[in-house]
Amino acid sequence: MQILDGKALAKKIELKVTNGVKVLKEKTGRVPGLAVVLVGHDPASQAYVGMKKKACDRAGFYSVTHEMPEDISQETIENTITMMNNNPSLDGILIQLPLPAQIDTTKLLELVAPNKDVDGFHPFNVGRLTTGLDGFVPCTPLGVMELLKEYSIDVKGKNAVVVGASNIVGKPMASLLLNADATVEICHIFTDDLKKHTLNADIVLVGVGVINLIKEDMVKEGAIIIDIGINRAESGKLVGDVDFDGVSKKCSYITPVPGGVGPMTIAMLLSNTLKAAKENTK
Ligand code: GUN
Repeated sequence: MQILDGKALAKKIELKVTNGVKVLKEKTGRVPGLAVVLVGHDPASQAYVGMKKKACDRAGFYSVTHEMPEDISQETIENTITMMNNNPSLDGILIQLPLPAQIDTTKLLELVAPNKDVDGFHPFNVGRLTTGLDGFVPCTPLGVMELLKEYSIDVKGKNAVVVGASNIVGKPMASLLLNADATVEICHIFTDDLKKHTLNADIVLVGVGVINLIKEDMVKEGAIIIDIGINRAESGKLVGDVDFDGVSKKCSYITPVPGGVGPMTIAMLLSNTLKAAKENTK
């Protein structure tokens, strides 16, 4: 069994991006700019945004975080996004999700200029991903593909079972795997007999937020296990959706939590923002 070390690869990518920022600055006199919208006081969202900001600083980006109160109006956020769309110092705009119930998230995501949509959540970029065209790809599934590539794992012809059908993780993950010629199944909350599906998988990718959802008896010998879950256990420890101790005895590769997919998400945000900056300064 081999651990897929996302922390190490994220560091490597961050260094590459940092170099890319220096080159861009020499060529154009500007650095990539990222704006983050954070609404309310959700501790997990605050923690993620904090990590994103620190990573931007390390890479030499210009970054700004717009913190807004929980009871903010739709109109105020829309005006802020329009301002960001028109601000030439900004190459990327990220709206940290989830948003409070009074906000129409879909409408906001559609308002972000597609060429600044570094999260890849705008329908324009979603469409480009599903048709196999270049565009912005959501950071977490993109990070998973980079991690597989780093360990020379080719998904072509493999049975990939994605557990979770969110717009942020499951659906783009499935598109990327399909684009890479895997045979893809998407399981979700209404899937009957999850084990029947996962037992047939050469690769299991799970991101639903349920501790120990994937157990040893649900995976086949030698499977590749990608744990995209992040949960806080009762002990306070961060854990994924996979019973690591049990499953790691049986699989060929596995991502740990923490230190697997999580750091890759941030590295890909940097990479997407540098890509946006390069394209926006052409
Ligand atoms: N909330 C959970 N994951 C993400 C992500 O990748 N991007 C944004 N914007 N919000 C999230």
